[in-house]
Amino acid sequence: MMEHVSKDNREWFGDWANEYDNTLGKVKRHHKLLDLVVKVSGVKRNDQVLDSGCGTGLLSLKFLNKTDCNITAIDSSSQMLRIFEEKIELCNLAGHIHCIEKSAEDMDFGSNQFDIIAATVALHHVKFKEPVIKKFFTSVNGGGRFILGEIDLDTTGKPDDPVRLSGILNFLTKEFELAMKEGGVQAFERMYDNGKKHILNDGEYSIGFGQWERLCRNAGFKNVEVHPLEGFEWFKVLVATK
Ligand SMILES: C[S@@+](CC[C@H](N)C(=O)[O-])C[C@H]1O[C@@H](n2cnc3c(N)ncnc32)[C@H](O)[C@@H]1O
Repeated sequence: MMEHVSKDNREWFGDWANEYDNTLGKVKRHHKLLDLVVKVSGVKRNDQVLDSGCGTGLLSLKFLNKTDCNITAIDSSSQMLRIFEEKIELCNLAGHIHCIEKSAEDMDFGSNQFDIIAATVALHHVKFKEPVIKKFFTSVNGGGRFILGEIDLDTTGKPDDPVRLSGILNFLTKEFELAMKEGGVQAFERMYDNGKKHILNDGEYSIGFGQWERLCRNAGFKNVEVHPLEGFEWFKVLVATK
């Protein structure tokens, strides 16, 4: 169980869980990304939705705010899920959301089970993405969509490659500024820690949207389109239709 997600990585998210809504959850860009995911998903009443890497449930709650759908939410961090489950109880949403402690790599859902599979800033934590995207393709039904809200940054390559390093540092400079401005010192500290992980590819394995597009087409998705997040060049939303 959970052998794909290192203990260090789970502990890192476990440690962040209590502060998550007060740090990344305070950054307006993050909410703009989640809102765009919900908008382009075309979610309808009674749709079956999978939120992969749900964290504290910010995306799932936005789906439910849009319409009465049924959400399955998975995450490899029990602490993140605990925060989400507190919100579910508080908002009386137990009939609409089913949380499972599970990594994306360990998913074992049946074929054609979901109308929508969504993942926001979670899949760049998965090192080997191809098998996960293939599982998404199997589990989404014909005409269903995989919606990805992610960082558009290729961090593959050698850690000491100066071009790679300067690309990551350009991205991080903007992120640090935004975190400090909107989430304060606590958010900045999280993003600063995160920066090292991006540079060393240690729990952060970001790729560009050209690479995400290829993974989706190779898995069998027919139509793949990419939406920019206005005002934020490093974040995009991809919609892949089966
Ligand atoms: C930055 S948070 C994003 C949470 C939420 N999707 C959002 O947009 O606010 C990343 C989440 O992915 C989870 N995660 C990391 N690696 C994972 C994996 N391999 N499988 C499932 N969840 C994972 C973490 O525990 C964390 O809750």
